[in-house]
Amino acid sequence: MSDLSANETASVSRSPAWDALAAHARELEPLHLRAIFAADPERGERLALDAAGIYLDYSKNRITDETLRLLVALADEAGLRARIDAMFGGDKVNVSEGRAALHVALRAPRDAVIEVDGGNVVPAVHDVLDRMAAFAGRVRGGAWRGHTGKPIRNIVNIGIGGSDLGPVMACEALRHYSRRDLVFRFVSNVDATDFVEATRDLAADETLFIVSSKTFTTQETMTNAHSARDWLLAALGGDVSAVAKHFVAVSTNAEAVAAFGIATDNMFGFWDWVGGRYSMDSAIGLSTMLAIGPEHFRAMLSGFRAIDEHFRAAPFDRNLPVLMGLLGVWNNNFLGAPTVAVLPYEQYLKRFPAYLQQLTMESNGKHVRADGTPAGCETGPVYWGEPGTNGQHSFYQLIHQGTRRIACDFIAFGQPLNPLGVHHDLLLANVIAQGEALAFGKTADEVRAEGTPEWLVPHRVFDGNRASNTLLLDRLTPAALGKLVALYEHSVFTQAAIWGIDPFDQWGVELGKQLAKRIVPELSASDAPAHDSSTNALIRRVRALRARG
Ligand code: F6P
Repeated sequence: MSDLSANETASVSRSPAWDALAAHARELEPLHLRAIFAADPERGERLALDAAGIYLDYSKNRITDETLRLLVALADEAGLRARIDAMFGGDKVNVSEGRAALHVALRAPRDAVIEVDGGNVVPAVHDVLDRMAAFAGRVRGGAWRGHTGKPIRNIVNIGIGGSDLGPVMACEALRHYSRRDLVFRFVSNVDATDFVEATRDLAADETLFIVSSKTFTTQETMTNAHSARDWLLAALGGDVSAVAKHFVAVSTNAEAVAAFGIATDNMFGFWDWVGGRYSMDSAIGLSTMLAIGPEHFRAMLSGFRAIDEHFRAAPFDRNLPVLMGLLGVWNNNFLGAPTVAVLPYEQYLKRFPAYLQQLTMESNGKHVRADGTPAGCETGPVYWGEPGTNGQHSFYQLIHQGTRRIACDFIAFGQPLNPLGVHHDLLLANVIAQGEALAFGKTADEVRAEGTPEWLVPHRVFDGNRASNTLLLDRLTPAALGKLVALYEHSVFTQAAIWGIDPFDQWGVELGKQLAKRIVPELSASDAPAHDSSTNALIRRVRALRARG
């Protein structure tokens, strides 16, 4: 048992701070944000935090000063401070896998000392970053040549989960800073369509594959990597020496990389203390570095670091990730909002919600506490979202007038990356308007005052009283992206600390993997499958469909 689980004896839901929050939530239930704001004209300025280049307006949550006091007391009671120190100190906070979770070391300065099992890991981090930078320089500068002597024009990252979502998101988010003459593609799904569509228009002799897999055993990634090798060799006349010029690997598993045929010189390593979903700033970010260059990549790391330092040092009531995490607990556990919509008003962040889905839900979708006892309360909420304003013409109807409570995180930037006419004014006006509409709604009297016939009034009423955060940053730079990701990483950690769960394991993905392995040969066998009647019927039906051709 780890040092962290030693004190974990009861669910947080049985703590005095939890009871106090539950009682407080009942008191607040009748209060509407309209009344709360009317009683406190300074609220919008007061319940906001400007730190590390991020402005967080959290005033449109259904909270009072007392709520914040009680939430901070809950964090204290849950030992959040000690947990933060344990994570930054390299303790084995990933209890069920017996590992440290030291993604903060990936962005530590060169002279920092962060120890795992008595050894400083920072020099190795910078060694890999330097090797990545040298490699990126050769590829971007045309010095790295393919099998036929041509420079690389296409880069295809093959990976899934944390070895895909971060690179995809960052490549899209930082497209403005990227080399436009290089083509970036991402292959993740085991569905061959993903690979075929990503490569169909690429010249093999100008294509570099990055096989990204922490374990280098993941079924989807290895299947795609083998198909990529076959595709390359078929196009280049079958000479296996071509593999060395067109494949590099990012992994912790040097043996498996070598067995695949990739020279260790062409492998960029990371470590078991980097979780897959916390790895976009490790060598898993190689495609990102190839796209934006080493300097911008380092700027992104500096953004991560700014939030790490803030998270570690700021008092909880002035701490961005802690506040976001605690407000999430409040909405999830006390106000009955089981989902969070992440709504970036910045087109370049269109894959940010998908990235956050793994970060938040693979981390905090847990039913037991770190010590194996039942969680005893709801844990991680469902995250989803789309960039504004597209979402407004789709699912916002349900957020405004549906019967479920949905917490919203709006993300916006004061400066556009593509200034064009009135576009940015309209974009910003919309994001500000949405928060206003959700909080204050429109009463029946206001609807009537517009001359609406009585029968239509209920349809046009907006109850309001719907919670939202608004994150406002200057502009979407590499550093700003690093800040946003680190903000959510640490807010996930804060919530896990409150619920007493391990946010760094992911046992929930294992069962499906095991069962799929068993079913693969059964699809082409002829003997009777031995599962439940539904699974058996599906396997037989697939066999029949295939037999028909
Ligand atoms: O989905 C489970 C998971 O282990 C993720 O946590 C991880 O990001 C992904 O698979 C990919 O794993 P790997 O990088 O080892 O291929």
